Amino acid sequence: MKEISFRQMTGLTSPNPLTLVCTKKADGTTNLSTISWWMPLSFNPNLFAVAINHASHGGERIRETGEAVIAIPAVGCESYILGCGSTNGGKVDKAEKFGIELKSLEGTDIQVPVHCTAAVVGKLVRYEETGDHNLYIMEVKKVFGDEAETPLFAWKGYAEANTAVRGR
Ligand SMILES: Cc1cc2nc3c(=O)[nH]c(=O)nc-3n(C[C@H](O)[C@H](O)[C@H](O)COP(=O)(O)O)c2cc1C
Repeated sequence: MKEISFRQMTGLTSPNPLTLVCTKKADGTTNLSTISWWMPLSFNPNLFAVAINHASHGGERIRETGEAVIAIPAVGCESYILGCGSTNGGKVDKAEKFGIELKSLEGTDIQVPVHCTAAVVGKLVRYEETGDHNLYIMEVKKVFGDEAETPLFAWKGYAEANTAVRGR
């Protein structure tokens, strides 16, 4: 093995997790932030954590509203994953710009893409300033799933969204 950077390591752990963090904008519409750094944190109580960079509009909206829905994108979302991961939702209506079809879920007015394998509705319980990304710890309020959808993962670090194949 040779010594590499922490950032380079993310290419070796591909496929990496992939989510669209959906938040409510000030005008009531939904913002979608492409976020890989999320993790389930506890089953009792049900908690998850997300690491979000300082400039993110989605992060700002979670701090403002205390809510987010973590959607696991599925086949059908490939065309806009990278776009949602390189545009700031404070300046752009991503759903309109990328032609993203959204659907509603029971119990929240934040919408999610029509194609996702899971959606976790979360309430912010703790926020920690950690570094160039900050930690959002969220309590699970509701969980939805659809086994018929095929999930997408981040490949080449975070450069590509594609499916994962079991086996070599
Ligand atoms: C595949 C991929 C994964 C990403 N993962 C993260 C992440 O885990 N945390 C983060 O803060 N930004 C991540 N980004 C960058 C954000 O998506 C980017 O800052 C985006 O502009 C955020 O949108 P927003 O400003 O509307 O919240 C990722 C981008 C891509 C393409």
